[in-house]
Amino acid sequence: MANQDLKRRIHVLGTGGTIAGAQSDSRHLGYTAATYGIDWLLNAVPGLHDLAILTGEQLVNIGSQDMDDRIWLQLARRVDELLSTPAVDAVLITHGTDTLEETAYFLSLVIASPKPVVLVGSMRPATALGADGPANIYNGVALATDARAAGRGTLLCLDGEIHRPRHVTKAGTMSSNAFCSSPAGLAGVVLAGRVEWFEVAGAARAHCFSIAGRDELPRVDIIYAYPGMSADLIDSLVAAGTRGLVIAGVGAGNINRSAIARLSAAVANGIPVVRSSRVARPMVFRNAEVNDDHHGFVAARDLNPGKSRVLLQLALTVSTDAGRIQEYFERC
Ligand code: DGL
Repeated sequence: MANQDLKRRIHVLGTGGTIAGAQSDSRHLGYTAATYGIDWLLNAVPGLHDLAILTGEQLVNIGSQDMDDRIWLQLARRVDELLSTPAVDAVLITHGTDTLEETAYFLSLVIASPKPVVLVGSMRPATALGADGPANIYNGVALATDARAAGRGTLLCLDGEIHRPRHVTKAGTMSSNAFCSSPAGLAGVVLAGRVEWFEVAGAARAHCFSIAGRDELPRVDIIYAYPGMSADLIDSLVAAGTRGLVIAGVGAGNINRSAIARLSAAVANGIPVVRSSRVARPMVFRNAEVNDDHHGFVAARDLNPGKSRVLLQLALTVSTDAGRIQEYFERC
């Protein structure tokens, strides 16, 4: 057992999700997410307290489909506060998997501390046969205590894999290996608490935005493209007060002619438009089939629609200029 004085101090923030979920009967699919509190979760993981000095805190206890801007801002402020004290070496966050990638990406853009921030979730409830939460928590704590994790920005740890927020997405709804970071790849793996990195500690993408004094974020909406889609939805969202639009386009961020015309009009009225894609491994470049220079659109590159929305929300706290926003999509 590591010498108590040498152990790192990890503060664990619980937010709910399946990892805290309870099943009425482990032979059935039905369960309720966000049932158990963080102390119960930590005490259910054998050997966890040998890895680090752990403190737990329940920030919220919700299914992550109920995550919103207000909770993100509350979470980011609490992480900043914890990491600014010498008494905390790293933060681990337990979270539902449905919106885990957006929360992780949001935190990666606003947390300035070089100390590790690791997010974990699980695909099976805490009381299920083959529950994956305890191993994810154990490996997440091991990752958070690894000296080489510092300076790499926010990380995700699920099913023994270390993912970076910009590249990871939830690609499935069944297996414990539901998360994918293709084509960029994993940052490393964690096996029974042993951390192996696939890359040297390079310069993690610098955090890009300040949330000081903010208690809300600009509204940004996502439009999912499909054959024959009506452009009426664009008008409805503009009328509803959206501040920015993200297109989950077909192929490399494409959308039909009538929609392009309405989107171009939205840009002319001061509402930035970002072209992302509905495909599993998006890469949307500027001026391929769509003349972004002409319409004033932004190309999302490898960011999926959900994360493009997060980045556009934060970019809008600084500027509505398409050129400035494109720069953020190039580097954040
Ligand atoms: N309600 C979903 C969530 O909290 C459950 C999915 C999960 O956590 O794996 O994201």
